Parts: sequence; C-alpha cells; structure tokens
Amino acid sequence: MIDVLENLPETDPLAIPEQRSLIDQILASNKQVRGATMVVLNELQNQFGYISTPMQAYVARQLRVPMSEVNGVVSFYSFFTTTPRGKHTVKYCMGTACYVSGAPGLIEKTKQVIDVSPGETTEDRALTVELCRCIGACSQAPAVVVNKDVYGRVHPNQLPQILNKYRG
Ligand code: FES
Repeated sequence: MIDVLENLPETDPLAIPEQRSLIDQILASNKQVRGATMVVLNELQNQFGYISTPMQAYVARQLRVPMSEVNGVVSFYSFFTTTPRGKHTVKYCMGTACYVSGAPGLIEKTKQVIDVSPGETTEDRALTVELCRCIGACSQAPAVVVNKDVYGRVHPNQLPQILNKYRG
C-alpha cells in the first residue's frame, strides 16, 4: 500500500507540521466515538475548510476503515469539499433562461479573466466558481450571484469589474 504521507503536495495540511498535529488530535479525541468517521470528517471540514484526498486516506488508515467508506461520506454530503474554497462564491445560473441568454459566454469570459472553470478556485483563494440552477431571476437572465449579491443581465464585458470587486 502506498504511504499516504509520501509525495504530499506541500500545501496539504498533512504536510504542515502544526496542521498535521491538529489532524492527529482530532483523530485521537474522536477515535472511540460512535460514527467516528463522520465526526472526524466534520471536524476536519470545519477546521481546514476542505478535506484533501491524502487527508481522506489518512483518516481511513487511522480509523481502520476502508477508503471507500471515507470517500463515500465526503462525496455524498455537499457540506464536504475536497479542495480549498475561495473567500467568495461566484455562481452562474444554468437554468434555461440564463443558458439561452448567454451563461456559457459568461463562463468562457470568466476563464479568460481569472483562469478558473466551474468547480475551481482562484490561486489567491478569493473566488470559487460554481454553476447553479434557476435562482428565480429569469427576467434578469443571464444572472450571476456572488455570495448573496445578484447581478442581472450580465454582459461578458461587465464581468471583470464584477469579479474584481471581490478580489480585494
Ligand atoms: S434561469 Fe437563471 S434565474 Fe431562472
């Protein structure tokens, strides 16, 4: 079996001594509780904001449960994420009205402007880009939501200005 602690990306919490010791503390204090897998994952998500694949493998090994069990829990609940999230979430509505009014063009423009596709986060961890279903603002299509701010009838040329507002 490959050691989960080998060839870790240097940004992985397991590769950072203080963070690794926090992971060990969380594991040690919850090892014996019922439903330990869920409890530990919950704590890790809260503490680190995500649970990387090496972290999942480490949890599986330390709790002596199959990796498929840990991975199954992480993928089932949308609360868990496997990559770090940005400070702000940018959602592109992919409902029919927004789609036909130009949502794909907005996504394309986003890729050009901040170099991320849906599901990804900018390198500075400022923005995470996601797709969403109809948000009930069809008359404003295409709509973009940043955190709780809704932008309607967005033209691709307006995107840099909108996105830069949230990038400090
Ligand atoms: S389809 Fe986008 S708001 Fe309804």
